[in-house]
Amino acid sequence: MLQMRETRSLRNPRAGSSLVLSDITARASALAAFDNHEQIWLGQDTERGLTAIVAIHDTSLGPALGGTRVWPHHSFDAALTDALRLSRGMTLKSAVAGMPFGGGKAVIIADSKTDKTPALLEAYAEMLLALNGQYFTGEDVGLTLADADFLRERTPNVTGTTKGGSGNPSPVTAQGVFLGLKAAVAHRRGSDRLEGIRVAVQGLGSVGRALADKLHRERAKLIVADLDEARVRDAVKSLGATAATTDMVLSVDADVLAPCALGGLFTAETIPHIQAEIVAGAANNQLARHEDARLLMERGILYAPDYVINGGGLINVAAELAPGGYDRADAMARVARIPEVLADIFRRSDAERRPTNDIAQEIAAERLSASRR
Ligand code: NAI
Repeated sequence: MLQMRETRSLRNPRAGSSLVLSDITARASALAAFDNHEQIWLGQDTERGLTAIVAIHDTSLGPALGGTRVWPHHSFDAALTDALRLSRGMTLKSAVAGMPFGGGKAVIIADSKTDKTPALLEAYAEMLLALNGQYFTGEDVGLTLADADFLRERTPNVTGTTKGGSGNPSPVTAQGVFLGLKAAVAHRRGSDRLEGIRVAVQGLGSVGRALADKLHRERAKLIVADLDEARVRDAVKSLGATAATTDMVLSVDADVLAPCALGGLFTAETIPHIQAEIVAGAANNQLARHEDARLLMERGILYAPDYVINGGGLINVAAELAPGGYDRADAMARVARIPEVLADIFRRSDAERRPTNDIAQEIAAERLSASRR
């Protein structure tokens, strides 16, 4: 029987459901990553194997929008911290991109290869439905387009589906990252030509591989790494890339480092080893701590703030929820503005001698406070 420990804004569940929803906002407030989240929900269904966290950070600009990650976190607090950081990132991403949505994110604690059963997804769809339009989701690491379609058949608040939706957001994210990377190269070198520029791509998944294809077409020299060796072999064969180990890719001799795997890469320990002069990639939460961007700046590394450069996917799925419905040309025109936003951030960062992510955060904060006035 579905139980709800706290009933604010929840829709009544299906009779006989084994899902238990709990408001864990107060519990999460003890974590460093909490950052005044509005609501955090835990969905548990022991019969169907679901443990899911939905974090809703800020809805000043509109309903929360953010993907669902399926990942076997080693502890509940690690998963909760991941959800909190990702959801806050979505607030910033939406605000910087000028979208009328708030920040939210979900984490299902499971191994997407072995635990992601239809029953688990059914239970998760019930959780989404119970949240009653406050949170819209879509694909993320571990949640495929087929999964998004499956969820969409059961609940309306799923974007980026293939049936009636805008489809896979990853190619659009990759396009935004590609344009943003060129803006960073132009800022540093006075030209956005990529011929001969050495780019190290960490992660050859949906975004990383599409980015590598685009870079290859512009004759960049690729260095690639992925936990999945088949992906690396394929990039070596089809793109003439050089393979690097997953340990070494962050510190290889390259001009640009494009992180396209998971976050938390840049720390006081790893930053001194980076050889690239530009960091421009898709991964969310690349910095373990916001303040470490200063270490990048002090080393002369130009950092494209992750939630600015990777906003293309959000822009695309958000376009589905626009009053007139999805308009691809309009969405792509918005994505084409990502390099302008970045160029402005880079200029301000140089002029004010402040890290790029401080400037980006300031732009987001201004938009959020204007919406609250
Ligand atoms: P994906 O799951 O398709 O690809 C991730 C790839 O990274 C996989 O091939 C995986 O084997 C590899 N990987 C994982 N850990 C690694 C490591 N330590 N070293 C090397 N490779 C590793 O994910 P997707 O969709 O390509 O997303 C990549 C990143 O971009 C994620 O951080 C995601 O949150 C972010 N992002 C994705 C968006 C999208 O539209 N797909 C939108 C905005 C951000």
